[in-house]
Amino acid sequence: MKVLMLNGSAKSQGNTYRALYEVGEQLKKEGIDYEIFQIGADPIRDCIGCGQCGAKGCCIFDDDKVNEFVEKAKEADGFVFGSPVYYAHPSGRILSFLDRAFYSGKKAFEYKPGASVAVARRGGTSATFDVLNKYFGISQMPVAGSTYWNLVHGRVPGEAEHDAEGMQTMRNLARNLAWMLKCFEAGKAAGVALPDTERGNQTNFIR
Ligand SMILES: Cc1cc2nc3c(=O)[nH]c(=O)nc-3n(C[C@H](O)[C@H](O)[C@H](O)COP(=O)(O)O)c2cc1C
Repeated sequence: MKVLMLNGSAKSQGNTYRALYEVGEQLKKEGIDYEIFQIGADPIRDCIGCGQCGAKGCCIFDDDKVNEFVEKAKEADGFVFGSPVYYAHPSGRILSFLDRAFYSGKKAFEYKPGASVAVARRGGTSATFDVLNKYFGISQMPVAGSTYWNLVHGRVPGEAEHDAEGMQTMRNLARNLAWMLKCFEAGKAAGVALPDTERGNQTNFIR
């Protein structure tokens, strides 16, 4: 089994990466593979709401890494999205990226467990954590928790690993995520089917 992570910082070796790495190495100890997908420092387009992904099956903009990430997501069993806190919210780039990934490729994520991680010098972590968790709630994704909300503190790259409780929270998150993945695998092997999904009512608050 494999967990696909997303580093929503332009810094490929910064504090967000360090937090995700801690999750990943613990996952490895639990027998689960992982990959940290780097969002990078190049421009990331936002979603323009054109709706063409519905017919095309992927985002029409293929000039950054969103479609590549969704292809990897199809093969992944679980997810961890990590972001630095910028002005008390996730980085703009991870929001632009995930809006497009979920709008164009939601099926790649459905029924698979997810978790988010927020990394900051000091404040805005829980708001950031809440925003990232919204992608899971609307996509039928169970959310893995830890012994604290998934927060790590640090300012300049290298500081995150000195946040002892933050690192412990990351390791416990990995243990819980691994446990969920193994339970789902065992359920599948025992013949437990995915739930039926009722659709048809989408009222847009008008009728
Ligand atoms: C534009 C910008 C806004 C930031 N806003 C906050 C903030 O609201 N709260 C906070 O505690 N840290 C804030 N920071 C600090 C980063 O969250 C912190 O340095 C983090 O460790 C960066 O993670 P990275 O190394 O993965 O990029 C901000 C940094 C930048 C560049």
